Amino acid sequence: MTDMDFDNPPADPVAQVQCWLEVAATTALINPHAMSLATVDPDGSLSLRTVLLKGFDERGAVFYTNRRSRKGVALDSGSPAALLLHWDSLLRQICIEGSVSHVDDAESDAYFAGRPRGAQLGAWASRQSQPVENRAALEAAVAEAARRFEGAPVPRPPHWGGYRVALQRIEFWQGRLDRVHDRAIYTRLDQGGWAIQRLSP
Ligand SMILES: Cc1cc2nc3c(=O)[nH]c(=O)nc-3n(C[C@H](O)[C@H](O)[C@H](O)COP(=O)(O)O)c2cc1C
Repeated sequence: MTDMDFDNPPADPVAQVQCWLEVAATTALINPHAMSLATVDPDGSLSLRTVLLKGFDERGAVFYTNRRSRKGVALDSGSPAALLLHWDSLLRQICIEGSVSHVDDAESDAYFAGRPRGAQLGAWASRQSQPVENRAALEAAVAEAARRFEGAPVPRPPHWGGYRVALQRIEFWQGRLDRVHDRAIYTRLDQGGWAIQRLSP
């Protein structure tokens, strides 16, 4: 399954997302799993940044970050999030919206354990989203973390872990050279299953 039939959309959008992810990953794109993440701060402000998609199944879309960062505080305030994957060379975009939960500790631990040591130390050293005086201060914090965990595995910091965005709305956009693009939106039904609508481009 590489092309989506927007006149007869598949019943299961999860498999369709997985298909497009697989195509993106095998098309030699740089960062095929980079996605924009939009969040709402507790005061109602919006913010947006790039994160990497690290898991996707019927439970939702997973990424990892510092839970004390701006996005972490926003997500932990209980507001929903929106994600956007865009593959320019494939003329494709996927938008996902839904409520957010923490990935459980065992899953976050397993992911963290597989990261390069430098990234693990960075997770301890960086007070993500907080002001930092200069590069030297950052490097000193990394060196301190390196000393602290010298000769031992670096454990996952308690403030670092995964978030899962539930799949409440999933929109597929396929660009077409005639500029009459295809769109379809899947909305999760309370009783299970999906409402599917073709949208005007
Ligand atoms: C390609 C790319 C991938 C990124 N992936 C992540 C990621 O997976 N997790 C993360 O915390 N930050 C990631 N970042 C950095 C974020 O975009 C952002 O600068 C950082 O998380 C702080 O965001 P915040 O202050 O809005 O919380 C990535 C940036 C780029 C450009």
